[in-house]
Amino acid sequence: HMEGDLPAGGDRVGGAFGQPPSLEAWYPQRLRVELLHRNGLDADPLGADFDYAAAFATIDLEALKADIKQFLTTSVDWWPSDYGNYGPQMIRMAWHAAGTYRIADGRGGAGTAMQRFAPISSWWDNGNTDKSRRLLQPLKHKYGNALSWADLMVLTGTCALELMGLPTYGFAGGRLDAWEPDDGTWWGPEVWNPHDVKSYDDMVNRDERWRGKNGEQGYDLQSPLAASHQALIYVNPEGPYQSGDPMGSARDIRVTFTRMAMNDEETVALVAGGHAFGKSHGMVAAAKIGAPPEIAPIEQMGLGWHNPQGTGAGKDTMTNGIEGSWTPNPVRWDNTYLENLFRYEWEQTKSPAGSIQWTPTDPDAPKTPDAHVPGQMNPLMMMTSDVAFKVDPEYRKVCEKFLEDFDAFTLAFSKAWYKLTHRDMGPKHRYLGPEATIEDGLLWQDPLPEPEGAPIDEFDVDALKEAVLKTGVSVSDLVFTAYSSASTYRDSDKRGGANGGRLALAPQKDWAVNRRTVPVIEALRGVKADFERDASGGKRISLADLIVLGGCAAVEQAARDAGVPTTVPFTPGRVDTTQELTDVEMFEWLRPIADGFRNFVADDYRQLAPGVAPEQVFLDRANLMTLTAPEWTVLTGGLRVLGANADGSDTGLLTDRVGVLSTDWFVNLTDTDLLWTRTDDTEMTFRARSQSTGEERFTATRADLVFGSNAQLRSAVDAYAGSDGQRRFVADFVRAWDKVMMLDRFDVKGARRYG
Ligand code: HEM
Repeated sequence: HMEGDLPAGGDRVGGAFGQPPSLEAWYPQRLRVELLHRNGLDADPLGADFDYAAAFATIDLEALKADIKQFLTTSVDWWPSDYGNYGPQMIRMAWHAAGTYRIADGRGGAGTAMQRFAPISSWWDNGNTDKSRRLLQPLKHKYGNALSWADLMVLTGTCALELMGLPTYGFAGGRLDAWEPDDGTWWGPEVWNPHDVKSYDDMVNRDERWRGKNGEQGYDLQSPLAASHQALIYVNPEGPYQSGDPMGSARDIRVTFTRMAMNDEETVALVAGGHAFGKSHGMVAAAKIGAPPEIAPIEQMGLGWHNPQGTGAGKDTMTNGIEGSWTPNPVRWDNTYLENLFRYEWEQTKSPAGSIQWTPTDPDAPKTPDAHVPGQMNPLMMMTSDVAFKVDPEYRKVCEKFLEDFDAFTLAFSKAWYKLTHRDMGPKHRYLGPEATIEDGLLWQDPLPEPEGAPIDEFDVDALKEAVLKTGVSVSDLVFTAYSSASTYRDSDKRGGANGGRLALAPQKDWAVNRRTVPVIEALRGVKADFERDASGGKRISLADLIVLGGCAAVEQAARDAGVPTTVPFTPGRVDTTQELTDVEMFEWLRPIADGFRNFVADDYRQLAPGVAPEQVFLDRANLMTLTAPEWTVLTGGLRVLGANADGSDTGLLTDRVGVLSTDWFVNLTDTDLLWTRTDDTEMTFRARSQSTGEERFTATRADLVFGSNAQLRSAVDAYAGSDGQRRFVADFVRAWDKVMMLDRFDVKGARRYG
């Protein structure tokens, strides 16, 4: 037969690997365990041996900054700069990179240059940030892998501010790029799209991000969201659902920026500071603009939002839809944004693209030069979200303070910018470069003091292990306490973890989930006091270290009792921080509503998270701890047999020898003789009966049964449930345990690359 003519048909190809429909299309509720293996080494062309800190150290930061400033004032033809200065658009790019950060789960932020990837790359409000990044490409290539995209983007924004006159608060490198899109972060439902706004009421009724926008009780944005609209950064500049309502806008701004971990003063400083620069672009109707980068035609080579008008750039630029500049000199740091906002009355008008904006009513108000047409002067512009600061009484107070005191405004803006762009970097140990050592002592950095006294040696470690076990505190309690102390770590913003000993400080010491640790910590304080009294040479052991050491000693005991004696690695050097250095409000966000590792579900879980199964929260936690599916499995099974439930119960332990590091949990979870049934219709707890004997055997939660019901997790359970599983289990558990204890130890590992 002819070429292309296969024997049984089949010559017409209908799809290829990875094309939809995907598993999610068929089973939207399925647990996406495979997401745990995203953004690992397999996706990284630089490989495991690449040391970013070492590479970055080869850069002369001063020379790099000079290069960036040179670039900012050198316009190129394919995307000419406004006012001959790329500064403003680069500030916006860096701000949009950082502004995705949200305190509830620590995700988002500038730290991995996620703006390069969908969905963020293609959000409407990231319009033309693709051009900003493409303009930076020559600099990226000049410095190569020694300069990550994430660092380059933040540094360029910071250099732009400096170039235009803002004294900045410094810059630290150390951001490691991601190499593939993040398909797991929950960005929430979205009804907004620029062509889709019918009426305010219609939008309110369709918008599932919010509760209570239509006036019902409890006006609130669903957690962990921060952005009031998904595809906007991160409030609608035209007011909620393009209503042009400044008060409504102020409400959205406050929720959005608070969830970005910014208070009112920081919020005003950031927006009033940012909008001292540059302009908005709205020369063409949104409907004429082409597809965003992720789905743009292939020959556009990754650039999106094709603009058919004129050159599609320069004076024809269309980004958001609003047109104009806020200040008479958009490339200089000054206080004219606030001055003009308050000095003039502003009335609603429309941009050429048809967007709602505001113009001074006074014809004698200052004008601003056109960004491209020499000699042409344009009226000043404010957005509904700018007028918001004038009408909201609390924001207004901050504005009045900044109006009176430009230096205070300047300092507030540069500090807030530093926080915005470094917020998700974690401990200062991760900061790189000559400006990283600035003695800033900022509370949002979760400061850790320097270690005190002489360090302990391996003989001390052995003696301390013995002393801890002699206190009579059980293996279960020691394991539970160590695990609890490490368990707050989240790789999203590198906060939490055992270092600092914050388990013994507010708010963590008061969390219900940690109640069981209180007497254990008391006992450990006794061990610490005894050791430091008797030790030679002024040796000190921090409580943070001792909590972890106690857990390690307990795991060793449990392994011995299982007949597999094992040494559990312990790396001293943790320090105890203080209550004064702990931002209670910001740590409160780390409180879990459920923690499957400790078989904990908050009493009001069903009210708090009506649509989210606890095992989804469990997966979220495993992801924040950078665990793989096998690590997640082995850690859970190990913690169960060690008896590490928050309430001290035996729910889900699935063993008759609690405290022994046996494979009982894996064996019993896969025992086909056991029939599991719900204990009630909340579907939160279950009981197992032996079908052969009729005996009631165990109770368990969803955080247990998910390892038997989910096919991928069950396969990992099989690896330990078999006859050859015991040794592998102890070894793997100890490795996973050590990984968790070390998650936040950037002090010893430098910029840790992978979990
Ligand atoms: C531009 C909205 C906060 C810095 C813009 C534009 C919009 C906007 C719609 C025009 C984009 C275009 O068409 O080119 C908002 C809203 C904010 C906010 C609603 C929060 C309520 C900030 C913050 C910063 C910032 C916190 C920086 C610290 C800038 C800069 C530009 C800009 C520099 C000018 C970009 C250029 O000249 O190309 N903003 N923004 N904005 N924004 Fe914001």
